[in-house]
Amino acid sequence: MEQVITTIKKVFIETYGCQMNVYDTQLVKSILLEHQFGIVDNEADADIVMLNTCSVRDNANRKIYNRVHEIKQRKQSTMIGVLGCMATNFKTELLDNKSLKIDFIAGPDSYKTLPNLINNLTFSGQKQYDVTLSEFETYSDVYPSHESGVNAWIAIMRGCNNFCTFCVVPYTRGRERSRDPYNIVGEVKRLVQDGFKQITLLGQNVNSYKFENYDFADLLAMVSDVEGVERIRYTSPHPKDYPMKLIELMKERPNICNQIHMPLQAGNDRVLHKMNRTYTKQEFLDLVTGIRAVIPDIAISTDIIVGFPTETEAEFLDTVDVCKQVQFDSAFIFKYSERPNTRAAMKFPDDVSEADKKSRIIRLNELQNNIGLAKNKQLIGTKQQILIEELTTKRSDDDAQGRTDCNRIVIVPKAGLAIGDLMDVTIVDATRNVLLGAG
Ligand code: 5AD
Ligand code: SF4
Repeated sequence: MEQVITTIKKVFIETYGCQMNVYDTQLVKSILLEHQFGIVDNEADADIVMLNTCSVRDNANRKIYNRVHEIKQRKQSTMIGVLGCMATNFKTELLDNKSLKIDFIAGPDSYKTLPNLINNLTFSGQKQYDVTLSEFETYSDVYPSHESGVNAWIAIMRGCNNFCTFCVVPYTRGRERSRDPYNIVGEVKRLVQDGFKQITLLGQNVNSYKFENYDFADLLAMVSDVEGVERIRYTSPHPKDYPMKLIELMKERPNICNQIHMPLQAGNDRVLHKMNRTYTKQEFLDLVTGIRAVIPDIAISTDIIVGFPTETEAEFLDTVDVCKQVQFDSAFIFKYSERPNTRAAMKFPDDVSEADKKSRIIRLNELQNNIGLAKNKQLIGTKQQILIEELTTKRSDDDAQGRTDCNRIVIVPKAGLAIGDLMDVTIVDATRNVLLGAG
């Protein structure tokens, strides 16, 4: 018979990496609360610390080792678990290195086993792990434990089948699987009841969403029909199979925001091919033109990697050229970093020098900053509707912060405002990162 823990154990979870990990932490909290664990906001109060890790760009092993060391130094009896993308890496080390101070490990598809892993650890004193990747687990039956607020995220699919050669996600998160759309709509309704106004649908590649006959556009239409959802966003689509019917739907529906985050990664055909991105520079440019023909003022942001193996200066300049032509609203630009197990790591030596990577990222960031500033300045004098998200800003407690439909941050005087208010403002000034608004 299964043994049961009788005293409530208090858990503190630290989250690294992307929004999917933030969502997963909410799932883990919900699973633990269902099993008589307590969640605490402070590491010092915890019996168990879980580190929900990311390995998309960082070689984070060292960082996690240091955190584990710090936590154990503070309190030797604290149990430590590693969750998330690094779990598989750590499993090998856990088994090989008996002095490693990690007590249990759970991969992204194993969170339902956490209560059992901890039970087994408590009663046997033996380190525990479960890093099995599933073809089916979508956590559809778990309602994430949310702090209150205006923004909520929902994972609509998990895993990725694209195998971009630089990316570790298909190995750490496994194969693509999509959630039942009615189950997602149920979660959206509950979020609206809980006061959330803006929902972001999350997936490694949302336009691969497929559940029986429902595709991503069908799901988006169903979510947009839910009463009380003020704003819907989604991230990230892949340019290779971006359906134009999605853009038509976005145009039709006022509550789907005019904003897309669509990763370019590189602007040169040879590099794109080596990355296994399956589109060309011209196809990406044509897609942007097609999207803007339907929604001219849509905001488009992107991800770019500089210094992919063998990328030459001339090939990098193709990426610069795409940025100049597209005029992205914003771009997250990364230096290529070799990830273990990926095809790039196995087949292509990381041969672009650190100095070249650095010079490329600096030049591209500078270009993008100028584009961002110019685009923001063009908005001065326009009227925008903003959703108030915070009643303070980095600079002042007298100001509030909201976002436009196109996802630009706007600062306004906070007098009389509440979180979740929708407000019409005129843009009176602009910097690279924010707009200033007046009511
Ligand atoms: N090196 C650098 N950037 C990477 N990304 C993913 N893998 C790597 C890597 N090995 C970036 C991509 C992706 C974003 C989430 O992280 O741009 O879109
Ligand atoms: Fe990684 Fe490519 Fe999948 Fe995105 S689409 S998660 S970059 S493999």
